[in-house]
Amino acid sequence: MNHSPSLKLNLPVLFSLSVVMLSGCAANKHQLTDADLNDPAKVLGKPIDGLNSSQLNKYWQGEALFKKEFTPEEGLGPLFNGKSCFECHGQPLVVGGEGRDNSSTSIMNYARRVPGSEKAKKPLKEVIQGLRKIDVDFFLTQGGPSLQKRTITTEFPAKFPFECQIDAERMPIDAELQSNRHSPPLFGDGLIDQIPDGLIAQQALEERATNPALAGTPISAVDRYFESARAGRFGWKNQHVNMFNFTTGALNIEVGLTTYANNTENSSDPLGDNPTCIRAFNKVGNPNDKGKILLALTYFQSLLAPPPRGPINDQVKAGEKIFEKLDCAFCHRPTWKTGPKVMLPDPDSPLPLINYIEIKPMENVEFHPYTDFLVHDMGPELADGIPQEGARGGEWRTVPLWGLRFKKFLLHDGRTRDIHEAILMHGGQGEDSAKRYQELNSKDKEALLAFLKSL
Ligand code: HEC
Ligand code: HEC
Repeated sequence: MNHSPSLKLNLPVLFSLSVVMLSGCAANKHQLTDADLNDPAKVLGKPIDGLNSSQLNKYWQGEALFKKEFTPEEGLGPLFNGKSCFECHGQPLVVGGEGRDNSSTSIMNYARRVPGSEKAKKPLKEVIQGLRKIDVDFFLTQGGPSLQKRTITTEFPAKFPFECQIDAERMPIDAELQSNRHSPPLFGDGLIDQIPDGLIAQQALEERATNPALAGTPISAVDRYFESARAGRFGWKNQHVNMFNFTTGALNIEVGLTTYANNTENSSDPLGDNPTCIRAFNKVGNPNDKGKILLALTYFQSLLAPPPRGPINDQVKAGEKIFEKLDCAFCHRPTWKTGPKVMLPDPDSPLPLINYIEIKPMENVEFHPYTDFLVHDMGPELADGIPQEGARGGEWRTVPLWGLRFKKFLLHDGRTRDIHEAILMHGGQGEDSAKRYQELNSKDKEALLAFLKSL
C-alpha cells in the first residue's frame, strides 16, 4: 500500500475523558469443548470480552460496514480490488478472516530496479534481497505500487455508457519485481495495535544482544494522522504502524474510497478520458468518506477478538518445547502486552472533532501472537525484491502464528497450504531452524506440528 508522509491533517483532537466506561465485568466465557475450539464459526469473528452495550453497538455498526458492498454512487472505485473488506477478509466464512484464494483476493505489488543504476546492471538474483527504496522505481506515474484489477465501468455496465469506459490497471511489461500478497486474517490486530513502540524497540535490541545472526530489524514508518514516526507492526513487510493508517490505505487502494486522511484516488488516471461521466455517479462528494466509515472500521477491527488457543494435550506440550529448542520462538515470540491506557477514536464523534473512548478490557492485556514484529531476511526463494518503508527486498515480518489451525494459505503469497512445507521454505535467517526441523525424528516432528496446529 502507498505511503505519503507529507499529508497534512489539522483536525483538532478532543480527548473526551468524561466517557468512562464500566467494563471488564462480563465473565461470559462459555464452556467450550475441544470440538468448539476447532470450529471457526464458534470462536472467530467475535468482539473481545468485557465490552459494555454502547461499545458493542458501535462494534456491530463497524462490522456491518466491513461487510457492506459499496456502490459507485457511494464512492466505490473508479478503480478498485474489492467492493467490501469482507470480500478479501472473510474466510473461513467469518468476518475478519483471510482471503478465499490467491488470485482474486490477493494484492499484486510491482516495481523495477531504477533503470541504469549499478544494481540494475547485476543479475537480479544477486541483488534482490538487498534492494532498498532508493534502488527501486514503483511506477508511481503508471498506477503503481500496487495493481487495481477492477473498474466500476466494467462491473456495472448498465450504469455506464460505453464512452465512460475506463481500463483496469495492467502491470507494465518491464515490472521485473512482482509480489502477490495473500490477504491475512485480522483477528486480534487490535491488541497488536496497542503494543507500546518501546517494547518493539526493546525486542530488537534484545535479539541483537542474544543472537546477531538471527536478529530482526525494527521498521519505523510515519503515522499519517499524527505525523510522527512509529514502530511498524502490520502488513507482510511491517510497513504500517497502526490500524487507522492501514484502514485509510485499504479504503483508498482496495475499495477506491477516498477519506479525509487519504484524499487522492490511487491511480495515474482513475477517471479515464471522460472524467465528468465518472464523476456524475459519485453522490457523496470528495472525499467519499468524511471520517465516519474510517473511524467505524478502525473501531470494529480494533475490538475483533484474537483466535483463542486450541486444545492442549501432552503431545502439544512436548511440541512447544521443540519450538523453543529450534529457535522458532526467537522470531515467533509467544507473548506480548498492551499498554496501560487504550483510547480508541469514537466512530460517533462529532467530526471533525474526535472523541476518544477508553477500552479498559484491552489495557495491560497479555496475549500470544507468536511474532517479534521485526523483519528478517528469509533468503532468495522468498524474496520479492520489493522494499517497503525500511524493509528490504528479501525481508518479511515474522508472521503471527496465532490462529494457524484455521489458516489455509501460508507465507506472504500463500504458496503453500502445508505447515511442514512452510517451515522447510524458511531460508536466510530462518534456514538454520528449518534444517534442524528436518533433522528431527518423526515423533518430535509430529509433536512440533501438533503444537503449531494448536495455535
Ligand atoms: C482485494 C482484497 C482486499 C480487500 C478488498 C481488502 N483487503 Fe485488507 N489486505 C489485503 C491484503 C493482500 C493484505 C496484505 C497486504 C500487505 O501487507 O502487503 C491486507 C492487509 C490488511 C490489514 C493488515 C493486517 C495485518 O495483520 O498485517 C488490515 C488491517 C486490512 N487489510 C484491513 C482491510 C480493510 C479495513 C478493508 C476494507 C476497507 C480491506 N482490508 C480490504 C487484501 C484486501
Ligand atoms: C529468523 C526468524 C524466523 C525463525 C527462526 C523461524 N521463523 Fe517462521 N517465519 C518467519 C518469517 C519472516 C515468516 C514469513 C515469511 C513469508 O511470509 O514469506 C515465517 C513464516 C512461518 C510460517 C507460515 C505461517 C503463515 O501463516 O503463513 C510458519 C508455520 C512458521 N514460520 C513456523 C516456524 C517454525 C516451526 C520455526 C522453527 C522451526 C520457524 N518458523 C522459525 C521467521 C522465522
